[in-house]
Amino acid sequence: MARNARQAGVVERYSRRTRWFHALTYVTVLTLLGTGWWLATGHEGHPSVLAEATGVPDVTLHTYAGWALAGLAAVAVTVAARATRVFLAESLRAERGDAHWLRRWPAAALNGRFPRHDGHFDPGQRIANLVVTALLAVLIGSGVGLAAIDGGTAFVWLQRVHRWSTYLVTPVLLGHIVIASGVLPGYRGVARSMHIGGRLRIEVARRIWPGWLERHENRDR
Ligand code: HEM
Ligand code: HEM
Repeated sequence: MARNARQAGVVERYSRRTRWFHALTYVTVLTLLGTGWWLATGHEGHPSVLAEATGVPDVTLHTYAGWALAGLAAVAVTVAARATRVFLAESLRAERGDAHWLRRWPAAALNGRFPRHDGHFDPGQRIANLVVTALLAVLIGSGVGLAAIDGGTAFVWLQRVHRWSTYLVTPVLLGHIVIASGVLPGYRGVARSMHIGGRLRIEVARRIWPGWLERHENRDR
C-alpha cells in the first residue's frame, strides 16, 4: 500500500484498523452528544428524531451508546494498548517551536502557511487529544456510575460532573470536526487521512505534518 500510495502522490497516515476504530468512536460519541444534549435540555419526555426512528427512548439509546463507548475504551487499553501508548506519547510531546506555532495558527488555518513542527500531530491537535481523552474518561467513569446507581447524593454529584464534562468536551469536538473536515482553507484535504481509504495527498501532508512525512518517506525507502 505505502509504495502504491507514494506512486499515486498520496500517503497513508492511518491504517485501516485505526480508521475503523475512529469511525466507530465518532458514531458512538455523536449519538451520545445528540441524546445527552437532548436530555440535558429537558426533553426527556419527548422522543428525539433518533428515538422516533428506532422506537427506543433517548435515555436507553444514550445508555446503550455509553456502554459501547466504554467497550471501545476497554479495547483501547487492552488489545490496542500499544497503539494507545504511541497516541499518548505523540500527544504529550513538546517542541521548542510550539508556542510560535500556536500563535501563528489562527492565520495559518486560513492561509495554509503553518510554521514547521516535527510531531506526528501538530501542537493544536496534541492539546485537543489530551483534553478530549481526559474528558471522555471522566464521562465514561461518571456515566457508568449514573447507570449503576439509582438516585441519592452520589447520583446528583455524578450528574453534575457528567454535565460539566459535556459542556467542556462539546466545543473541542466541534472544533475538531470543523478542522478535520477540511472546510478551513489551510486544512483543505485533511479529511482523507481518516476516510475514503486514508489516501492523503502528499502536498497536504507536507503542509501540515512535514516532520512526520519525512520520517514516513525515509522508512519506506
Ligand atoms: C461523549 C460522552 C457522553 C456525553 C457527551 C454524555 C452526556 C450526557 C448528558 C448531557 C446527560 C444528561 C445529564 C443531565 O440531565 O443532567 C447524560 C445522562 C446520562 N448519561 Fe451520559 N454522556 C456521555 C457518555 C456516557 C457514558 C459512557 C455512559 C455510560 C453508560 C453514560 C450514561 C448516562 C446515564 C445513565 C445518564 C442519566 C440518564 C437519566 O437521566 O437517567 N453517558 N449524559
Ligand atoms: C465526535 C467524535 C470524534 C472523536 C472523539 C474524534 C477523535 C479523534 C482523534 C483523537 C484523532 C487523532 C488526531 C487528531 O486530534 O486529529 C482524530 C483524527 C481525525 N479525525 Fe476525528 N474524532 C471524532 C469525529 C470526527 C469526525 C466527525 C470527523 C469528520 C470530519 C473526524 C475526522 C478526523 C480526521 C480527518 C482525523 C485525522 C487527522 C490527522 O491526520 O492527524 N473526526 N479524531
